[in-house]
Amino acid sequence: MRATRTLLSVLFAGVCVLAQTSVDTYVATESPIAKAGMLANIGPSGSKSEGAKAGVVIASPSTTNPDYLFTWTRDSSLVFKAIIDQFTSGADTTLLGQIQNFVTAESILQQVSNPSGTVSSGGLGEPHFNVDETAFTAAWGRPQRDGPALRATAMIEYANWLLKNTSVSNVVNTLWPIIKLDLDYVAADWNQTTVNLWEEVSSSSFFTTAVQHRSLREGAALATTLGQTSVVSNYNTQAANILCFLQSYWNPTGGYITANTGGGRSGKDANTALASIHTFDPAAGCDAITFQPCSDKALSSLKVYVDSFRSIYTVNSGIASNAAVATGRYPEDSYMGGNPWYLTTAAVAEQLYDALIVWNAQGSLNVTSISLAFFQQFSSSVAIGTYASSTSTFATLTAAVKTFADGVLAIHAKYTPSNGGLAEQYSRSNGAPLSAVDLTWSYAAALTMFEARAGTTSPGWGAAGLTVPATCQTSGGGGGGGGTAGTVAVTFNVVATTVIGEDIYITGNTDSLQNWSPDSALILSPANYPTWSITVNVPASSDIQYKYIRKFNGQLTSWESDPNNEFESPSGGTFIRNDQWR
Ligand code: NOJ
Ligand code: NOJ
Repeated sequence: MRATRTLLSVLFAGVCVLAQTSVDTYVATESPIAKAGMLANIGPSGSKSEGAKAGVVIASPSTTNPDYLFTWTRDSSLVFKAIIDQFTSGADTTLLGQIQNFVTAESILQQVSNPSGTVSSGGLGEPHFNVDETAFTAAWGRPQRDGPALRATAMIEYANWLLKNTSVSNVVNTLWPIIKLDLDYVAADWNQTTVNLWEEVSSSSFFTTAVQHRSLREGAALATTLGQTSVVSNYNTQAANILCFLQSYWNPTGGYITANTGGGRSGKDANTALASIHTFDPAAGCDAITFQPCSDKALSSLKVYVDSFRSIYTVNSGIASNAAVATGRYPEDSYMGGNPWYLTTAAVAEQLYDALIVWNAQGSLNVTSISLAFFQQFSSSVAIGTYASSTSTFATLTAAVKTFADGVLAIHAKYTPSNGGLAEQYSRSNGAPLSAVDLTWSYAAALTMFEARAGTTSPGWGAAGLTVPATCQTSGGGGGGGGTAGTVAVTFNVVATTVIGEDIYITGNTDSLQNWSPDSALILSPANYPTWSITVNVPASSDIQYKYIRKFNGQLTSWESDPNNEFESPSGGTFIRNDQWR
């Protein structure tokens, strides 16, 4: 018996070492590929940057299905945050020219008038631009208010490095004016309705609120250092208000952070794990008010989010209920087939590697009533309490979390093709890469996951020791379509040739248009075939966006191509839209 057990444990240890070795091998081979893949998508000389101006980051070189040959402020800022991390840490000192190009490109883009407005009237919230630095003028989910905050965070990290190497006045004259535009926008408009990071739901959104909070805190600190005292108290006041509002996303019954205040979805969403990793401050411990990666709320939320994909993806079938699985944006997703994404899978592992960094640094780990279910996945007998690093419970739990995170990384590895290219998605049924190829953000997300696994952290932003004010001054943006009172009856007519068994449906950005859900999309009548029609009440005086979709025997078969159809609804009465299927 004893011999058998020893043999088994030797075998088990052997399997663990094997798994660990293959993950190590993947990290070693994929790291340079991911870095090269990222740099290839940056103009003017990236090998796949397809005519992008200097410092412009393309989302992907894909030009059809989907067309991602644009530059998104969110993607670009997250990518350059990863690049600036590598530069300022000394890991790669050759990146300075790229960073300077980025600063110049973004300073140009800030000034480009676009459908969201001008630089001083809301234009900073424009989600994406053409790669030649002109405005994208077709319909799109706008504004997206995370962009300016993420851009400020990337530039503040660079500004803090510059301060150690050049003069204050140099930073005041070069970077500060760009950073200040973004921070002023965040401070003024954070409580306005925003389209979320997945460009679908118009409401308030946790990721957006969390990154806005971070940007104002570190912005206030930088302004103080630079002697720009006039903005400091406003940034701090608004940051406190945002922190207050941030608390309201927590769903105590469900044990998770609800991603959006509108949209009619479960709210289980990679949005929240991404917020934790992009607002990680190693000095803040496991603070729950800023939803740090190892906080009880962020861990509980992570479990609920991960579990929501266990039964919906074929690639996850047969995997034990406490083992690593593939994850996507949110379980209801149907965009491009609604598959797992590389960058959301990476975010799960990164959040856990971040948590391990903090537990090991502080030499203890805390299990609360909120995080109990998360930890019980790994040890069913674990109880609420604080476990010092000398205890076996600490050793068991941290080892299990590491194994889980490495398991997620192993899934990322398993579904990465042999050339190491990272697309946007991988198939929910067989893991094959899907949607946009060479997604710049996928590469950056892989790199930051690898760095977190190696224990590398980037500078904090002042999250330590914050408290939630007793009263909040302002509540967040409204839910739903953000419209004013009153509705208008709109008749949607679309000319579409169909085959028997096929029907045309509509879905869009308001509750009455089913918040972009293909499952509950509204069926049109073919009474005047080939014109299909439906009349829907939508909010008056509002930006309405929609697409027609096709279903065959009730099963979704295709969406209209981008961009969305869009119009401004009148203040009252009725209205007709005449479209051709596209
Ligand atoms: C394109 C956006 O990039 C994507 O996030 C969204 O799901 C679809 N448009 C919806 O049509
Ligand atoms: C669609 C994603 O939903 C969005 O977050 C991203 O910014 C764009 N694709 C570009 O990668």
